[in-house]
Amino acid sequence: MHNHRTTITQFIIEEQRHIPGATGDFTSLLNDVVTACKVISNLVNHGALVGVLGAAGTENVQGEDQKKLDVISNEVFLKTNEWAGHLAAMASEEMEEVYQIPSQYPRGKYLMTFDPLDGSSNIDVNVSVGTIFSILRCKGNCVNPTAEDFLQRGTEQVCAGYALYGPSTMMVLTTGRGVNGFTLDQNIGEFVLTHPNMTIPADTKEFAINASNMRFWETPVKRYVDECLAGKEGPRGKDFNMRWIASMVAEVHRILTRGGVFMYPLDSKMKEKGTEGKLRLMYEANPMAFIVEQAGGAAITGQHRILDIQPSHLHQRVPVILGSKNEVELIAKYHQEMQ
Ligand code: AHG
Ligand code: MN
Ligand code: MN
Repeated sequence: MHNHRTTITQFIIEEQRHIPGATGDFTSLLNDVVTACKVISNLVNHGALVGVLGAAGTENVQGEDQKKLDVISNEVFLKTNEWAGHLAAMASEEMEEVYQIPSQYPRGKYLMTFDPLDGSSNIDVNVSVGTIFSILRCKGNCVNPTAEDFLQRGTEQVCAGYALYGPSTMMVLTTGRGVNGFTLDQNIGEFVLTHPNMTIPADTKEFAINASNMRFWETPVKRYVDECLAGKEGPRGKDFNMRWIASMVAEVHRILTRGGVFMYPLDSKMKEKGTEGKLRLMYEANPMAFIVEQAGGAAITGQHRILDIQPSHLHQRVPVILGSKNEVELIAKYHQEMQ
């Protein structure tokens, strides 16, 4: 007898049965998201063979150089999700304005934000990248939603997830009932449940930060990292390991798998530029914070829980410190002591 494997479609339908009054709309939306990620995975996988590597020669709203794959993945995500009638609008890292559903299609009751390709500086060097998405309910104007309609706290997310295009392609999801991971079986073209109930160990000996910014860090982050680096002989009494992939999806995935802390903190260079962080709240920090909390970890800016932030604009940036609960709490304590 062959072993039954749970596909992501089966999993989502079974999840839906726990939600009273569910119409199947959300299930169907997630199916489209899954399809979009499969298409992006295929493009990322074929890389130079299909001519998708290199720069697009354009800049996005954040003033960052776009890669060809940033632009293509954005297009794939929009086209795969716009037609089915589940969404009222979308917002993306690669688009300044809210994306309205084209007039030939019906509008739905959900809003979606996404980072079509996260870690895109890794594309040309063949290192893991990913896609991040967050689904909100449309509460106000669902005909032509504006940026205002998206500005909901992270606690309001209905679902968050990411696809990781690594040695294998994976999809990790939460709808607020824990975190589950699926691996793409290329032979049957389906994501299969391989990592049920992912949890982050509360303690860790591993941290991730771009240490080239060290001279700009604030005291609490400097203190935390110094203490980790002091190892066994230092105040922590144990040796720490360090990683930096420069791809938040890959970083969060490692933490979900074996614990750790990821930091992109506020620093003096950002303050000078008038920005409040590197990562974007609506399509990087919030979805990842939702996933991390659902897996038993914690996610803060330093001073505040990320999911509690009232967003003020669509492309808002925030400092991010997330991962193993006890470590994040220690870093929060160092921030409180600074005040
Ligand atoms: P994106 O490719 O979507 O712009 O995001 C990249 C982000 C994040 O994934 C990563 O953790 C960080 O930027 C890397 O920053 P550095 O280049 O400073 O290392
Ligand atoms: Mn990103
Ligand atoms: Mn991106």
